[in-house]
Amino acid sequence: MDVKKLFANSFQKKNNLGDNIMALAPIEPITMNPIIRELMAINGARLLYRPKILPQHLLKAPNWQYWAKIKKISQVKTPSGEIVYDGIQIIARPGDPIKKAVRYIDNYANKIGIRFIDLNFCCPGYKVLPKRRGGDLLKDPETIIKVISEAMKFTNLPISIKIRKGFLNSDTPTKLCSHIRREFGENIAWISVNRAPVKMENVDFSLIKNDFKPFEQAITAVEGKIPIIANGSIETYHDINIIEKNVNINGFMIGRAALGNQTIFHDILDPKYSGIEANNIDNAQIILKFEELFKIISKYKNGSSGRFCSMGELKKILFYYIKHYLESQNKQLPTGYGFSKWNSSKFSPDSLVRALFKIFPTFPEGSWEKWIKSIFN
Ligand SMILES: Cc1cc2nc3c(=O)[nH]c(=O)nc-3n(C[C@H](O)[C@H](O)[C@H](O)COP(=O)(O)O)c2cc1C
Repeated sequence: MDVKKLFANSFQKKNNLGDNIMALAPIEPITMNPIIRELMAINGARLLYRPKILPQHLLKAPNWQYWAKIKKISQVKTPSGEIVYDGIQIIARPGDPIKKAVRYIDNYANKIGIRFIDLNFCCPGYKVLPKRRGGDLLKDPETIIKVISEAMKFTNLPISIKIRKGFLNSDTPTKLCSHIRREFGENIAWISVNRAPVKMENVDFSLIKNDFKPFEQAITAVEGKIPIIANGSIETYHDINIIEKNVNINGFMIGRAALGNQTIFHDILDPKYSGIEANNIDNAQIILKFEELFKIISKYKNGSSGRFCSMGELKKILFYYIKHYLESQNKQLPTGYGFSKWNSSKFSPDSLVRALFKIFPTFPEGSWEKWIKSIFN
C-alpha cells in the first residue's frame, strides 16, 4: 500500500470532505465478518479492520475466521471508484510473540487479503487492562515504542496504530505522538486517535462529543509526518464538520454509527448532503439500506463463507440496525424484545421474521420474509 499516496489529498488544502480518508473502526466481533467490511467499503470506507487479536491467539488458530477476506476484494470499490484496504489489528505488549505473528501475517498477506497491520493501544476492556495491554500501555509510552519497533522489524506491511487521547481524561496525546514521530517518522502509516480517554468514569460525554483538542494536539505533535484519523462519537455530518472546520485532519473513523447505517460514509462525503444529518432518514431510505445489506449477505451464503450468514451472525448484524433505528426515532424495543433478549433468543427464520415485523411495523408486509428467506431457503 502506498500510504503516502493514500493520504496525499488529505494533506493538501482541502476542497471537500472527500479528500479525507474514511475508515470503519474495528468493532469486536462484528468487523470480523467480511460482509460488514464489504458493505462499508461500497459505501465509502477505504480502511477496514478485522478486530483485535492477541499474537499468541492468532498463531494458535491460523485458519480461523480472522483470515476471512472480503469476496473479490480487488473488485470492491468505494462509490467514487477507489480501492479499499483491509487490515488486521494486533493487541500486544512486550514479551508477546509479535515477531512470529507479524511474520505469519506477512507471509500470507496476499492470500488472506491483509494490506496493513494495526496495533491496538486503546482498548479499555476490564480484562485487557490488568494484563497490561491495549489502553493500559498509554500509561507508559516506552512500551508502545517497543511493541511498534518489534512489529516493524518483521513485516513489510504498513503499520498503523490506534490510540486514545490518553489513559485519563486530563491526559493529552501530545507526548506519545511526538515520541512516535521522533522514533518512526513517516514509517508509521497513520494514527487513529479516539478522543475519549481509557478511564471514562465521571467523564461528561457531551463534552467529548464536541472536543477536537485531542486531534489538534496529535496533529501538532506529528508535525505533518504522520496522517491523523479522528475517531470517537462521530455520528453525523455536523460532528464531522466541527472537526473539519477546526483542525487539519486526514481522515475520519466511524464505528457504532456506521454499523447501524452503512451509508453514513457516503452521506457525509457526498456534497449534496452537506448540512443534512446522516441520521435524518425516512422509511424508504432505511429499506434501501436493508436491500443493500441482504444483497451482500446473499453473495456470501454459499460455500465456506456461508458461516458469515448464519442465524447467529445475522442476529449480530441486525442488532446494530435495530439499535440505530430505534435510537434515531427515540423509541424502545417492543415489550419482550430487550437487547439482551434479542442476543439470547434462538430464532427460526419464521420467528425472526415475526420479531422484525414487530420492530419495524411500517415496513411493507413481506419485506422481511423476502430478505430472510433469501438467506435461509
Ligand atoms: C463493541 C465494541 C467493540 C470494539 N472492539 C474494538 C477492537 O477490537 N479494536 C479496537 O481498536 N477498538 C474497538 N472498539 C472501539 C472502536 O473501534 C471505536 O474506537 C470506538 O467505538 C469509538 O468510535 P465510535 O464512537 O465511532 O464507535 C470497540 C468498540 C465497541 C463498542
